[in-house]
Amino acid sequence: MNQILNPSILSANFLNLERDLLELKKNNIQRIHVDIMDGNFVPNITFGPDQVKFLKDSTHFYLDCHLMVNNLDVFVDKFIDLSVGCITIHQESHKHIHKFINQIKKSNIDCGIAINPATSIYNIIDILDIVDKVLIMTVDPGFGGQKFIDLMIYKIEILKELMYKYNIKNTKIQVDGGINLSNIDKVYALGIRDIVVGSYIFSKNGITNNINSLVNKIGQLN
Ligand code: DX5
Ligand code: ZN
Repeated sequence: MNQILNPSILSANFLNLERDLLELKKNNIQRIHVDIMDGNFVPNITFGPDQVKFLKDSTHFYLDCHLMVNNLDVFVDKFIDLSVGCITIHQESHKHIHKFINQIKKSNIDCGIAINPATSIYNIIDILDIVDKVLIMTVDPGFGGQKFIDLMIYKIEILKELMYKYNIKNTKIQVDGGINLSNIDKVYALGIRDIVVGSYIFSKNGITNNINSLVNKIGQLN
């Protein structure tokens, strides 16, 4: 069950990052979501390739890198060089997104395509079958701790219908933004098995308690 949760370390305690990462590991978390923000595509700055290299060299985690950056010409190369687990790029970040998908796929790194809440699923329909996953943003990207946008449930339902209609079986759906104990069941019930959770996991009750409560909640649906 812990394989479904994908903690976003954006909300980890950066003075105690090693402690938080060890607690995730003790809870059998296999992958972590790493939000790369450039202060341009989104109005916030987080970490870049140099910091991700520390994670790559010093931890066991599959690094699920969510690039919220405009300059893909520079950043895609850098993340490929780091051999991270997955590079997810935004449809809105470049006019020629297809060439970057090809570049990532050729390097044998998993490739995701992300869309903002206001971007239609039809904007990525032609590339659905060449990516490994579609990241549906359920908040406007840029910050942790925002409220889940309920309308995105319909978007996920439409995406699932399209994937069924066009027989797309190997593309996974990931959901990111505003997920916590009060709504994770809605996301899980849609069949989503890659759920990014940031602020809730790192909130005051502690990482282990928070993970346990999420796991119990989705466990009740089985
Ligand atoms: C927002 C990021 C998310 C964020 C999720 O732009 O892409 O990954 O860390 O955090 P919560 O779960 O707090 O919304
Ligand atoms: Zn993210």
